[in-house]
Amino acid sequence: MTLSLQPVEHETALRRFGGQVVVVTGAAHGIGRACALRFAQEGANVACLDVDDAGNSATAEACRRYGVGTIALHCDVSRESDVAFDIAQVMSRWGRIDALIAAAGIYTGGLLSEVTLQQWQRLLEINLTGVFLCNRAVAPIMIQQRSGSIINISSMSGKTSWAGTHEYSASKSGVIGLTRSVAMELAPYGITVNAVCPGNTKTELVLRAARQNAPREGLTVEEWLARRAADCPMKRLAEPWEIAGLCAFLASEDARYITGQAIEVDGGMVMS
Ligand SMILES: NC(=O)c1ccc[n+]([C@@H]2O[C@H](COP(=O)([O-])OP(=O)(O)OC[C@H]3O[C@@H](n4cnc5c(N)ncnc54)[C@H](O)[C@@H]3O)[C@@H](O)[C@H]2O)c1
Repeated sequence: MTLSLQPVEHETALRRFGGQVVVVTGAAHGIGRACALRFAQEGANVACLDVDDAGNSATAEACRRYGVGTIALHCDVSRESDVAFDIAQVMSRWGRIDALIAAAGIYTGGLLSEVTLQQWQRLLEINLTGVFLCNRAVAPIMIQQRSGSIINISSMSGKTSWAGTHEYSASKSGVIGLTRSVAMELAPYGITVNAVCPGNTKTELVLRAARQNAPREGLTVEEWLARRAADCPMKRLAEPWEIAGLCAFLASEDARYITGQAIEVDGGMVMS
């Protein structure tokens, strides 16, 4: 079975976020890019934050097609000063933040004996500390507004684990714990905070995971990806827009009473 990693584009007829301001980290590629496009399609002004400036600008440009305001800001989410500077930029441009989608993340893996301390620390800095820094930066703004939605991208690996995913699983379980704690603190202000837990999704990240893990399992990259699709009850990988769809729902009026949850979009993987 040959598996295409080319994501399918999807346009929605919904338009729930006219005039709102949404910050998306990891916006240059994959799930973050799909989220930026989804919110732009639905009328939101979008601030795209990423370390990849070229990819980030391309996403902001693509969002502009929908007639919304966008900015592309350089951000390493593990750097406190980058996050603080960028959130201040968003505030000076629009004066409010209605939703944060914390999607920036990396994947590394390996057997326990192969994982260096540096590899462990770098992944946690980006996948967990980065989410903490972004949540902490937008919280006072949303508290003052007495409204807002924070959506942290965790993973099915935050709910279950496989061999060779030590630092990744730890970071994603950490995101779920952090999400619950922030949700408890911000609930009295009408702010919702949830984690989204994707299964294997057609992005560069899953390709990198395939390249790292396939040799250990005696498979080619294509075979590894096909195996992951076969493992899934729905027999396929997710499209990035399918993750973005849940993020948009969680930021919408229909989800005002949903907080502290970690919701899987995984075709039934964790359930099975
Ligand atoms: N693709 C999957 O199968 C899958 C499954 C579960 C969870 N996730 C999670 O979804 C999120 C998005 O991943 P993706 O699959 O779209 O991957 P991706 O590699 O396509 O995109 C990740 C984005 O994050 C950016 N990024 C990396 N380090 C950064 C940093 N320090 N600061 C700012 N930006 C940084 C990258 O430049 C890239 O644009 C990640 O948190 C990932 O762990 C992905």
